[in-house]
Amino acid sequence: MTAPASLDLSDGGAIPILGFGTGAMAGGMSAEAVLTALKIGYRHIDTARKYGTEAAVSQAMRASGLPRQDIFLTSKVSHENLRPADFARSVDESLAALKVDYLDLLLVHWPNPEIAVREYMPALAKAKREGLTRHIGVANFTTRLLEQAVALCPEPLAVLQAEYHPYLEQTKLLTAVRKHGLVFVAHCPVGRGRLFDDPVLADIAKTRGRTIAQVALRWLIQQNVAAIPFSSKPQRIAENFNVFDFTLTGDEMQRIAALKRADGRVADPAGRVPGGWD
Ligand SMILES: NC(=O)c1ccc[n+]([C@@H]2O[C@H](COP(=O)([O-])OP(=O)(O)OC[C@H]3O[C@@H](n4cnc5c(N)ncnc54)[C@H](OP(=O)(O)O)[C@@H]3O)[C@@H](O)[C@H]2O)c1
Repeated sequence: MTAPASLDLSDGGAIPILGFGTGAMAGGMSAEAVLTALKIGYRHIDTARKYGTEAAVSQAMRASGLPRQDIFLTSKVSHENLRPADFARSVDESLAALKVDYLDLLLVHWPNPEIAVREYMPALAKAKREGLTRHIGVANFTTRLLEQAVALCPEPLAVLQAEYHPYLEQTKLLTAVRKHGLVFVAHCPVGRGRLFDDPVLADIAKTRGRTIAQVALRWLIQQNVAAIPFSSKPQRIAENFNVFDFTLTGDEMQRIAALKRADGRVADPAGRVPGGWD
């Protein structure tokens, strides 16, 4: 099975299946890393108001010399800014920091137990109607919250972004995403490094002459799930993009799916998800 370079979005256009994350944890993230990614061929850059990386992304986009329309640019509104006036201000701040007049994808970064989904779906839709973003979506929503968002948003949602890698079961969420015609974008696709000692992944990587990161990314894109790995290191940024010329067998795909663990989640800020993960 081959993997496409991009996935069609339900409201037109497409999203590159492999992107570059800029939400680095410790160690930070530099404009050089984004520029390296753009030079290697990444055309989907994932940032967020909360990361503080929008200015660096802007600098790299400019330094790359690439036309704006060649880059699929995602940013997000954080959970503290979901009330209507805050929401609009956050979007304006993102556009100003990125020095662009539109985003390709605007996401609600996390739900907020103190703010109902119905309060901010109109603000998300408004950003799209005003041309501030081409597509909209939600991140870190459970299936239950996604159902609410789809029902309450006056404009179609195109993307759900959530953690997904071999240690985290996401079958239920993936089924809901597909039912509504959305694209699933996997964050933390190499499990923030947790996968790298896994013997099954090591065995498959050895058989294929690849690295564990490449096998994990290939496993996602072979499910038609987009992935946005981050690395600060040029060699790894290149390695993570080099996943389009090999194919995992059905047996390998299943062996990897069987690695899911109850404690597999790595991005889980306490109390952020109303009702908890389901
Ligand atoms: N919506 C959300 O709430 C949310 C949450 C989390 C993440 N995200 C997005 O998803 C992106 C990716 O997630 P993430 O950065 O947390 O986790 P990740 O991509 O799973 O892992 C990144 C870590 O893995 C290491 N790494 C990457 N490629 C490697 C390779 N080939 N070999 C060895 N080590 C490798 C990197 O270290 P080095 O730098 O040392 O290579 C880095 O520490 C973020 O940058 C962000 O854009 C979104």
